[in-house]
Amino acid sequence: MNLKVKKAVFPVAGMGTRFLPATKANPKEMLPIVDKPLIQYAAEEAMAAGINELIFVTSSSKRAIEDHFDKNYEMENELEKRGKHDLLEVLRGIVPKGVSCVYVRQPEALGLGHAVWCAKPIVGNEPFAVILADDLINGGEKSCLSQMVEVFNERQCSVLGTERVAPEETNKYGIVKIDDTESRLHQLNGIVEKPHPEVAPSNLAVVGRYILTSEIFTLLEQTGRGAGGEIQLTDAIAKLLKIQNVLAYEFEGKRYDCGSKLGYLQATVEYALEHKELGSDFRRYLRSFVCDVGLDR
Ligand code: UTP
Repeated sequence: MNLKVKKAVFPVAGMGTRFLPATKANPKEMLPIVDKPLIQYAAEEAMAAGINELIFVTSSSKRAIEDHFDKNYEMENELEKRGKHDLLEVLRGIVPKGVSCVYVRQPEALGLGHAVWCAKPIVGNEPFAVILADDLINGGEKSCLSQMVEVFNERQCSVLGTERVAPEETNKYGIVKIDDTESRLHQLNGIVEKPHPEVAPSNLAVVGRYILTSEIFTLLEQTGRGAGGEIQLTDAIAKLLKIQNVLAYEFEGKRYDCGSKLGYLQATVEYALEHKELGSDFRRYLRSFVCDVGLDR
């Protein structure tokens, strides 16, 4: 039987400490890149890949995410009255017909692995995607997850979204061990969370995109606290590859680490330059700022 990926899990229960105080009362995933929150970019990427059930793993301070994907009758009525049909369309298009949103709570921030495990009753026995909204990926013509779903459809096994990182940065990522190949698709031989550069098996890092088979849930149950005292998804994947094929896929596109302030600013500038309404004005502004004021201070 050919399995299809129809569900995506969005773990959004982290504390976002790198963005405090902005994330004290507002979820990190609601930070906008120009005019759209990070979580909406992530949901759009999932829907573009054919996913029709969005599962958010939330915590008590993340209610704004539920509100964002819910209908806002008051605002819609007001926009209707004022004849602002274009904005009305923007609001109504956030969750298109045929797509459903489900919310589950992670009672304690015990780590990404634990957050994914919290989605088990909703995912059931199907393969599913995991998207970390703070990794914003511009895949160009084909989104990163769409590329990965194509790989899954052909190979019917777990697929990890990966990219090459600077060798000195391996201690920030899950790093995979592969046999060197020329193509973008690699057989996984091992995976380790945040290894020191001297012992890292490669510089191929897992970023915030995964397609996983449901066997991961049983393995997460057997996974104790790992790096940073958290239940690590990486540790459960290391167990998964002992019983199933797991692939590492180097996606085409550019990733912005919007969980860090620098990555967030880079994404803001680059998405603003490409923005339909703002792009040319912002480009003019940026050019004159760099020419007139200069960047050397
Ligand atoms: P991060 O490592 O970026 O942690 O989590 P964080 O708490 O969001 O941010 P910082 O490091 O404190 O600034 C990666 C992803 O896993 C989710 C986060 O919401 C983020 O999408 N996560 C992490 C959970 O849902 N639950 C957890 O217990 C931990």
